[in-house]
Amino acid sequence: MKQAVLSATGLYTPPESISNDELVASFNTYVDRYNETHAAEIAAGERAPLSHSSAEFITKASGIESRYVVDKAGILDPDTMHPRIRTRGNDEPSLQCEMAMAAIEPCLAAAGRTAADIDAVLVACSNLPRPYPALAVEVQSALGGGAFGFDLNVACASAAFGIQTAADMIRSGSARRVLMVNPEICTAHLNFRDRDSHFIFGDVCTAALIEDADDVAPSQGFDIVGTHLQTQFSNNIRNNFGFLNRTETQPRTDADRLFVQNGRKVFKDVGPMVAEMIVDHLGAHALTAADVRRLWLHQANINMNTLIAKRVLGRPATAAEMPSVFAEYGNTSSASPVIVFHQYAGDLAPGEIGVMSGFGAGYSAGSVILRRR
Ligand code: COA
Repeated sequence: MKQAVLSATGLYTPPESISNDELVASFNTYVDRYNETHAAEIAAGERAPLSHSSAEFITKASGIESRYVVDKAGILDPDTMHPRIRTRGNDEPSLQCEMAMAAIEPCLAAAGRTAADIDAVLVACSNLPRPYPALAVEVQSALGGGAFGFDLNVACASAAFGIQTAADMIRSGSARRVLMVNPEICTAHLNFRDRDSHFIFGDVCTAALIEDADDVAPSQGFDIVGTHLQTQFSNNIRNNFGFLNRTETQPRTDADRLFVQNGRKVFKDVGPMVAEMIVDHLGAHALTAADVRRLWLHQANINMNTLIAKRVLGRPATAAEMPSVFAEYGNTSSASPVIVFHQYAGDLAPGEIGVMSGFGAGYSAGSVILRRR
């Protein structure tokens, strides 16, 4: 079997950022207006008032201090509270395709590759712009060259699933170079009127190149030592947006067609599940926590990651062992462990090992063991 190598990554960060204070000010204006509009019903006990959000709560509960977004003005406008994205004609590139190309270009440059070298393009992300044509086919066309492409959606775990899919192609010999890209416009599925979750997500795009080791310089990138995927059905993170919406006999509310979660349950279920998965995966490769120099974890919640790292390592992780980008990026779904890897992998010495892990709705989780070449 051939050896797959994660040879390079690329990151595209949207130019606009929203701080917790800015987000909370917009949310609280919405709340004040709502309570004023419904004052009589609230006074009569017929409707519950809404409560203010707080920047202190957000930082403490999640570790998030800001997030990059594709449209700041629309999200912060209390009359809109979602990104406003220009409708594109069928002959124009979609916004996600543009983001994908902006992450792919530095990724290919870092690997010293061009479009002509790529055999397959996988778009792996939580939200796709349409059922068809596949976004990956659009990205492949924008890229040029002769690759084929397909989309893959396993929510926040999509990148781990994408890396295993790409690595399997390399291992079997069906492709020599696979580009995996994660264009996440999470703010478009986030309910900015929901106090429990309005602060969670940001927008970004990452790309990763997975290649046959025979084609890669001996000191470039990371050997993919092993990959492991698992799923367990749960409704605790759910989005009921779908193509059957217009046919349903009970029309759904807007809120039901956006991200909805039971955050407490997710925290309790997913943290231990991911920690156990990583420990078992290391064990399957005759590795232990002592062999692990770094954890590149999905950035959903700082407290959850602290718990996962502690269970994996058997003690609290240092900042160097479990670097984070929560504060700056928020939760960027599938892209988030790739951002952490992109920013915090270069200092590993040859032979040193790290684990990348994505996890989220489904539930779904994946672990990728990487060894610096
Ligand atoms: N501002 C101020 N207070 C808030 C608030 C906000 N925006 N949102 C909730 N609160 C309040 C609640 O009303 C509650 O008040 P109470 O104790 O008086 O009832 C209190 O804060 C605690 O709420 P809770 O929902 O239990 O907070 P939490 O500590 O669980 O943190 C999450 C919430 C969402 C940050 C956390 O549960 C989480 O991150 N879970 C995992 C989510 C996840 O990873 N999802 C995966 C997506 S990929």
